[in-house]
Amino acid sequence: MSIQKIFKFPEPVLRQKTENISLFDDNLAKLVQDMAETMYDAPGVGLAAPQIGRSVKLIVVDITKDKEGEPQHMPLVNPEIVAHEGTQIDEEGCLSVIDLTATVKRHKKISVAYQDLQGQAQELSAEDRFAVVLQHEIDHLNGILFIDHLSPLKRALYKKKVKKWQREEEDPS
Ligand code: NI
Repeated sequence: MSIQKIFKFPEPVLRQKTENISLFDDNLAKLVQDMAETMYDAPGVGLAAPQIGRSVKLIVVDITKDKEGEPQHMPLVNPEIVAHEGTQIDEEGCLSVIDLTATVKRHKKISVAYQDLQGQAQELSAEDRFAVVLQHEIDHLNGILFIDHLSPLKRALYKKKVKKWQREEEDPS
């Protein structure tokens, strides 16, 4: 297992359409382990493969129930939202979008179809915060970042800030 580099906006890999996963082998299991380790190191509660530069349909989410116990993660391969209802507004941030949190409107409840690490078809229902995390991570697989859900003004301000940081990195004087 090893901690991977997290790609940050505006890296192009975060905007790419991801490939379906069809091989359920040891390499996939290892990728999941790396993603879980990277997520907990950050720390975060969800991570999508493009965030470590892998353009495939895979997300890992934290499902730890007991805060005292061992952290527990869950991989979802080729996940897709198949049903949704209601709306909720909650605060979001992203390990790939540094120094920004903002409120985003999401579905309140969702059903997600996915495959497990053995390639078996599964479905789960989620609501509230867990539904937010899943929608946020599944967005990553379609090249969508939470800033895309903000107003054009807020998004423009953030992009301006990132450009300023990039200029400062190039010319630290
Ligand atoms: Ni994110």
